[in-house]
Amino acid sequence: MKKKIEPDRVKPSKAFRTKLGLSLHGFAEDVLSSKLGDPFQGNVDLVFTSPPFPLNTKKKYDNLQGDAYVAWLKSFAQTFKKLIKPTGSIVMEVGNSWEPGKPVMSTLALESLLAFLKEGGFHLCQQFIWHNPAKLPSPAQWVTIERIRIKDSYTHLWWMSPNERPKADNRRVLVEYSAAMNRLLETKTYNSGHRPSQHKIGASSFLTNNNGAIPSSVLVEADTEHDNNAPSNVITLANTHASTDYQNYCREHGHEPHPARMPIRLAEFFIKFLTETNDLVVDPFAGSNTTGAAAESLSRRWVSIEPNQLYVEGSKGRFPKVVLPKASTETTASGNARLSKPVKSVKCGKSSKRKH
Ligand SMILES: C[S@@+](CC[C@H](N)C(=O)[O-])C[C@H]1O[C@@H](n2cnc3c(N)ncnc32)[C@H](O)[C@@H]1O
Repeated sequence: MKKKIEPDRVKPSKAFRTKLGLSLHGFAEDVLSSKLGDPFQGNVDLVFTSPPFPLNTKKKYDNLQGDAYVAWLKSFAQTFKKLIKPTGSIVMEVGNSWEPGKPVMSTLALESLLAFLKEGGFHLCQQFIWHNPAKLPSPAQWVTIERIRIKDSYTHLWWMSPNERPKADNRRVLVEYSAAMNRLLETKTYNSGHRPSQHKIGASSFLTNNNGAIPSSVLVEADTEHDNNAPSNVITLANTHASTDYQNYCREHGHEPHPARMPIRLAEFFIKFLTETNDLVVDPFAGSNTTGAAAESLSRRWVSIEPNQLYVEGSKGRFPKVVLPKASTETTASGNARLSKPVKSVKCGKSSKRKH
């Protein structure tokens, strides 16, 4: 019997549409192998997702553990490969985990990455780090009680593709020049020549204004007291107070907000970097649908998949208007759920220029 992460069984169905997106209710493996997934096969520019992490303590959506987790994540490699275009990308955010009862990190995240890469025949185009300096010190036993470890404050973002050169353009994600670079562009003078790192800096290498600096692969959560420590070219992802509209919507409608939302700017960064207007972005483990909201705000089409009905309901609050399908589902001969054309439109968020 296939081991499932909660909730137990869900018949794949359409949950709602927005101007550019479609929210699907169900498990990714079921949705993508059903008729609902057919139109997207081979048409996706970016799979951007944060699957349940390999935790040693269970979260609300009941993460798998140990080898079962590695096998579970690996089982999606071929499914996602079929979904993306030959020049498409997969970006997955996965956190660290620790061995139960020991001050030792689990290698599960790394094992999962290797297994996924191998199973899908993917290249690891680049690894990114999302550093959240405001994270509470954990694992508490080793960090705050015994004081023998440092707080675990980052997650991995793995950018993978079947192609060594998937679609990407760092000019879409430039960050502001540092004060030093702005001065240099103004004065047009600097010390060229060899650096201790053995790099040779040409006499005119830095004189062109490219409208911004190329960001680094360390993405940092902003709005914290630690901001000042960030190097000038890291992407800062302000999120601390950014979920207000979503949370308000959940509160008003009696839904529990998703406990593991990512900052919307994390999704925005990769969507801008790896896709163009009107491209298709899919989040197969969508949770509160941060990815869909980011895609919609950047004029990309999106599809999200989530089995937990409450998270799907709450995610409606991320959009100014959603269109619901007819209440009744028809069932095809093969048992797949099929929904009639959406008919009911519902106002949700306050405006399309909302915070997420
Ligand atoms: C880490 S959360 C994603 C959070 C999301 N990025 C956000 O910002 O809200 C992972 C989600 O995957 C969902 N999930 C678990 N197993 C799944 C499966 N087989 N298919 C699709 N979604 C699944 C969980 O219900 C959970 O909401």
